[in-house]
Amino acid sequence: PTPPEFNLDNIQGDILSGLPKKTETYIVFSITNATKFRKDLHNLIPLIKTVSGVLKDRQAIDDHKKKKLPGLVPMTGVNISFSHLGFTTLGIDDTTLRPVNPKTGAVNPFELGQKVDAVTNLGDTQKLNGDPDWDEAFLQGNIHGLIIISGDSHLSVNAVRLKIEAIFGVRTPTASLKEVISIVGDVRPGAEAGHEHFGFLDGISNPVVTGFDTVINPGPKPVNPGVIVTGHNGDTTTRADWATDGSFLAFRYLFQEVPEFNVFLSKNPIPKDGNGVALTPADGSELLGARMVGRWKSGAPIDVSPFKDDPALAADATRNNDFFFAGEINSQLKCPFAAHVRKTNPRDDLEVPPTGITPIPVEGNRIMRRGVQFGPELTPQEKATGVTAHGRGLLFACYQTNLFNGFQFLQQTWANNADFQPFETQPEKPGLDPLIGQGVRSMSGLDPLNEQKLLSMPQFIIPRGGEYFFAPSINGLKTTIAT
Ligand code: HEM
Repeated sequence: PTPPEFNLDNIQGDILSGLPKKTETYIVFSITNATKFRKDLHNLIPLIKTVSGVLKDRQAIDDHKKKKLPGLVPMTGVNISFSHLGFTTLGIDDTTLRPVNPKTGAVNPFELGQKVDAVTNLGDTQKLNGDPDWDEAFLQGNIHGLIIISGDSHLSVNAVRLKIEAIFGVRTPTASLKEVISIVGDVRPGAEAGHEHFGFLDGISNPVVTGFDTVINPGPKPVNPGVIVTGHNGDTTTRADWATDGSFLAFRYLFQEVPEFNVFLSKNPIPKDGNGVALTPADGSELLGARMVGRWKSGAPIDVSPFKDDPALAADATRNNDFFFAGEINSQLKCPFAAHVRKTNPRDDLEVPPTGITPIPVEGNRIMRRGVQFGPELTPQEKATGVTAHGRGLLFACYQTNLFNGFQFLQQTWANNADFQPFETQPEKPGLDPLIGQGVRSMSGLDPLNEQKLLSMPQFIIPRGGEYFFAPSINGLKTTIAT
């Protein structure tokens, strides 16, 4: 028999399987005593949840459901990752984590750090002093790492947090770590569970990884293991031994202006669907939102069901990712070019273009999205005024082995680029990704009967912080990072 591609006991759980969670605390930390931190880290390693740990947890959740037992299975999971500054502070040579871009010679985003990347490449608003317009915590230049604690409840997560604080002596004179900021994320309540704050079901399309996933539903081709995990086939860089079986985590602290988004939808309803059938204002607004995202709130893809929601399609894993924009290279009838899911995963637009155009593989641009919502549900006051009064959004987190091709590329070259994709025969510019695009924000294709019409829109998603981290293997932690 062929050996398994991955040693699942060596890889941190969030990367391949996603830590099971109802709530998740992100602790962004600074190392205050490197020598002591490296010793203390030994005591954290047993708490880290690996992929095999997550698979066991998922089994326990399934059993619990099958037996129809009440409540949730108590469980927690800890993962840790480090920034380039963190490795430097610890005196660890991370050269193989930050190759320059072989095509352009550009500095690796991991080395650059996200604070610099934000204004040079990602398009975040800049303050007069050159910093991105972020929360103070992310601007102080002391972010060394991130600890994620997931769990079934705040009670379980907080218990683990106390354990971790004790390990590093937090708030004692011998502390080896200081919390820069900690952010609590929560899955939304009731029927909104799994939906992001605008109301759309999220987490449907993630890459299927060869050598790991056993269920392969119709949809985009599986990716090579090395697109997500370092040191495997598909990873474009040769890594030091300790740096294999890990992954880069692009973290973004993204605020969502939900009342303002809803006001925009209600002010710009689409008058008629693609068949010329007149829509009520409510249905027209619903369709506008769906065309901005590329999916209905239920999760049903508009490329399959363009003018009417289809909850059964949304719920069917064998159909809800089975679309390719096939034969639509010059058409926005079913799905706008700039719709969030088409911008961030163009599928056949690039991979199966018409004859005469060279296909461009998108495998290297796939990312494994994790992350969780933060902030409260809309208050009655916010609904009434249409103005945000409470911070809420997404703790965006995605894993990949190549930050140039992964997160940075998606944001810079696709989402922020009004010309992407530049098909030769298209009369209209696609415009920016209406969710995450930064720059002069407008897009075409929202009105299916008037594809060339541009609609301008304010920014609804506002980055307030972030960093690039590397989540090492258990072996890397034991042999190289801890002493
Ligand atoms: C898919 C929302 C930020 C990349 C989606 C989906 C939603 C969504 C509703 C469709 C569900 C699915 O296919 O799983 C959001 C919101 C964001 C956000 C509300 C910020 C608050 C980002 C960022 C990136 C990104 C920053 C990367 C730069 C993707 C990708 C997909 C996706 C790659 C899957 C596309 C596919 O394979 O079809 N997002 N997103 N998203 N998003 Fe985002």
